[in-house]
Amino acid sequence: MLNDTTLAVVGCQWGDEGKGKISDFLAGQVDVVVRYNGGPNAGHTIVVENETFKLHHLPCGVLYPGKINILGNGMVLDALTLEDELAGLKRRGIIVQKLFISDRAHLILPYHRRQDSLEEEKRGSAKIGTTLRGIGPAYQDKIARRGIRAGELRDAQRLKEKIAAFLSEKNELFARYYSAETMTMPEIEEGYLPAAYRLLPYIADTALLLAGHLERGEKVLFEGAQGAMLDIDYGTYPYVTSSGTMTGSVCSGAGIPPGKVGTILGVGKAYTTRVGAGPFPTEIEGKTAEYIRERGREFGTTTGRPRRIGWLDGVALRQACRLNGVQHLALTLFDVLGGVGSIKIATAYRCRDGSVTEHFPADQHILEEITPIYREFAGWDEDISRCGNINDLPRAALDYIKGVEETAGAPVSLLSVGPRRDQTIWRL
Ligand code: IMP
Repeated sequence: MLNDTTLAVVGCQWGDEGKGKISDFLAGQVDVVVRYNGGPNAGHTIVVENETFKLHHLPCGVLYPGKINILGNGMVLDALTLEDELAGLKRRGIIVQKLFISDRAHLILPYHRRQDSLEEEKRGSAKIGTTLRGIGPAYQDKIARRGIRAGELRDAQRLKEKIAAFLSEKNELFARYYSAETMTMPEIEEGYLPAAYRLLPYIADTALLLAGHLERGEKVLFEGAQGAMLDIDYGTYPYVTSSGTMTGSVCSGAGIPPGKVGTILGVGKAYTTRVGAGPFPTEIEGKTAEYIRERGREFGTTTGRPRRIGWLDGVALRQACRLNGVQHLALTLFDVLGGVGSIKIATAYRCRDGSVTEHFPADQHILEEITPIYREFAGWDEDISRCGNINDLPRAALDYIKGVEETAGAPVSLLSVGPRRDQTIWRL
């Protein structure tokens, strides 16, 4: 799989597909690991020799000695949580040395977090269920051209003036529109900026660095965050995150030309989960959902919320594979389905007017009214979490994999049967 110099790992569902585990599994074979979108809304759970790590900003390369780790320009960074993340790793004996932060990445400021909460409160029953990390407001400010970029930390005086001006606008918004408390400059100057200044040694023109690594033929892994169905354009809008989550964003979010994206690996769970609100056509409730939630430890890594559970949505997965240009699929949490009974994959949707579609509708109102059309598969009861070889899997499991491939239109080349690195099976 790593014949190409670069490999992009992208989520093909609503996030939480296990990209962290798969990226970590592959990171051993590369020199550089790059995050290119999102921020601390991501929660990548990685198990190394029975120790569990939860990363939010940092690429999984930090768990290997000597790897170069880049936070790309497409990201939004919260200096306080990033510092906490680094400190948490240090306490566990991991000193992150080769870390580079793009001078063009945007900062999440304390007023963005406040705005995220106020926006959610105001939405009432239509709330998105964001992670409340300030992600949406930070990207809003980026697009509105009133964001603060990491490189601006180099000029403290100018930065202070800029933040003060933006803060007075935010305070107008908080006080007048939301009737909420305002924020003071000392809260930002004393409570946030010192942590941000401590990031200065890491700040660089990371696109330039990356160009050098690629020129020298070094291997690079682009570690995606969130998933295709949370993409700002092709996700279940408006119940999405505020960045592009697909392969196209590797170029804009890391600063490389399209021709430099080599192998594209999509990651999908053997079933589907979603946190937050919004359409979820194959959602199930009751005993089966609870069984899967418990076995799959389906609670949000960032927020601890119980994840919503559903059957594999083949319509969504097919769209994700097509839009991302997925060449290989990694099917994760496969062991969780053992003992669940018969298993379903949605292959099409029946719309309210009786028509059938195999494509994911753009309109949230249509989506809310569709009924999935399922293909049913026999289940298996065997514990497959110790299987080290594809031929050790029960017949029913192999049939299910074939069904996933036929629905998604991409080959399942990697199979994850547990959280540890050694619970991963190649199928090339
Ligand atoms: P935001 O990204 O915090 O604005 O949240 C927008 C939506 O994306 C919410 O439904 C979140 O639960 C979801 N979301 C954001 N990041 C992740 C992730 O890494 N995994 C799963 N869901 C996510």
